[in-house]
Amino acid sequence: MRQPPRGRFITLEGGEGGGKSTQARLLAAALAGRGLPVLRTREPGGSPGAEAVRGLLLGQAVARWDGVAECMLHFAARREHLAATIRPALEAGLWVVCDRFADSTLAYQCFGQGVPRAAFEALAGVALEGLRPDLTLVLDIAPEQGLQRAEARGDTNRYEALGLAFHHRVHQGFRAIAAAEPDRCALLDATLPMAQVAAAILATVQARLPR
Ligand code: TYD
Repeated sequence: MRQPPRGRFITLEGGEGGGKSTQARLLAAALAGRGLPVLRTREPGGSPGAEAVRGLLLGQAVARWDGVAECMLHFAARREHLAATIRPALEAGLWVVCDRFADSTLAYQCFGQGVPRAAFEALAGVALEGLRPDLTLVLDIAPEQGLQRAEARGDTNRYEALGLAFHHRVHQGFRAIAAAEPDRCALLDATLPMAQVAAAILATVQARLPR
């Protein structure tokens, strides 16, 4: 077993249009403003090898791979991201703020695309070697509203095109993950104004991860 990392690992999760990327940026800036060393990163991607897999995944038609193969690609990218970016940062004492992580695979590929949970668990076991976020902020928004927001900013990708029923399953998936692991996860209302969501995130980080 590896030595426990010294930094803190915070992930932001949720469906489309919940404002994760904006909130990841605001949180990273707030932590840095408090004098903490911060690294902001994202998935799929976050290291050169993982960004190459991202290009493969997001640039292709949905039917290109079956769900399990897609799950494997996400975990291949994640493994590379962990090795090249996240673990070294945690070992150096950084606070890592990551826009999406393994919960996205569980929500999108298992709840959304129907990949068996056992496949997820097996791949997570191999790829993560026991590493899990210290805190996961789940930005909760109804898919109708989230997709509308994503469309309004012209930000649609292959998953966004999968249809409303798919996104309802993903949404329920994120809620189920948050309910199953309340110690790790906090479910936050992403329909509130951006500044209020940011304040709720900061309060949660301060309460759950005292310095
Ligand atoms: P991105 O453009 O980064 O979207 P967002 O701003 O919503 O994060 O695209 C990432 C897409 O990949 C998003 O639709 C969710 C999906 N995804 C998965 O299906 N499984 C995963 O494991 C991850 C990390 C992302």
